[in-house]
Amino acid sequence: MAKRDFLSISDLTRDEVVRLFDLAVRMKRRAYRETPLSGKTLAMIFAKSSTRTRVSFEVGAYQLGGQALFLSSRDIQIGRGEPIPDTARVLSRYVDGIMIRTFDHHEVEELARHATIPVINGLTDLSHPCQVLADLFTVREALGGWEGKRIAWVGDGNNMANSWLEAAEVLGFELRLACPEGFEPSREKFERACKKARVLVTEVPEEAVEGAHVVNTDVWASMGQEAEAEARRNAFKGYTVDADLMKLADPGAIFLHCLPAHRGEEVTDDVIDGRQSRVWDEAENRLHVQKALLATLMG
Ligand code: CP
Ligand code: NVA
Repeated sequence: MAKRDFLSISDLTRDEVVRLFDLAVRMKRRAYRETPLSGKTLAMIFAKSSTRTRVSFEVGAYQLGGQALFLSSRDIQIGRGEPIPDTARVLSRYVDGIMIRTFDHHEVEELARHATIPVINGLTDLSHPCQVLADLFTVREALGGWEGKRIAWVGDGNNMANSWLEAAEVLGFELRLACPEGFEPSREKFERACKKARVLVTEVPEEAVEGAHVVNTDVWASMGQEAEAEARRNAFKGYTVDADLMKLADPGAIFLHCLPAHRGEEVTDDVIDGRQSRVWDEAENRLHVQKALLATLMG
């Protein structure tokens, strides 16, 4: 059987997402006792910092009977210029799967092309599919599903926003993104999503949040954009998710943030710590959903 990678949400069909989530529910309820990763190793390459992704993948691999190797790109030969195809070929002889977090998305595609084992995108500048899978799982858990729901994104049209566009394309919910001019998500992903779902990109946060069932945001300066932080703080004035903005959403709306958060910038304390916030469930769900993914791709 051909190996399968997970580089973007669009690598999955709607039915595969549902099957993955049903398995993740069993794992979360501790009704799943199998060890499909027994004797197997997941290599985790990180060119950027991580708390949730690193810990949830490492713990997840262990709980499934396998092990995970943390490989900082600074310490392995990739950091000294060893070609990605060579790294892919060598790792394929030692381990059973690779999770990679890096800057340029093309590097992940190149790694996947040359590896004979599954490759998982643990975040690039372009997308963050593992996070949005966990977010969708959290939406299903909190609201019963995404069908007929309006999902709002407020802030940067970044990797997270792009993965939400892919999710809208695969699952067909309504997505409204409010981004300042010059910070819109990928045009190509937007156009693809528009063919399958109702998608709106606006500069007005209120328009995105009005009647929304999920309100979602993320930092204004992502990893690698630290030098732009001050300019971005100016560009994103008015895009803070605060209690007044949340009042425009559906009364049963939930608030999501992939974390880490810059409290006082993209979100206020009262919202992220408030009754509508599901951010800790969202973080926890990374573990359950990624375990289901590891069992499916590597088991
Ligand atoms: N949300 C997320 O991916 O967190 P980390 O950067 O801590 O992995
Ligand atoms: N957009 C953020 C997500 C962090 C999990 C970043 O890329 O830094």
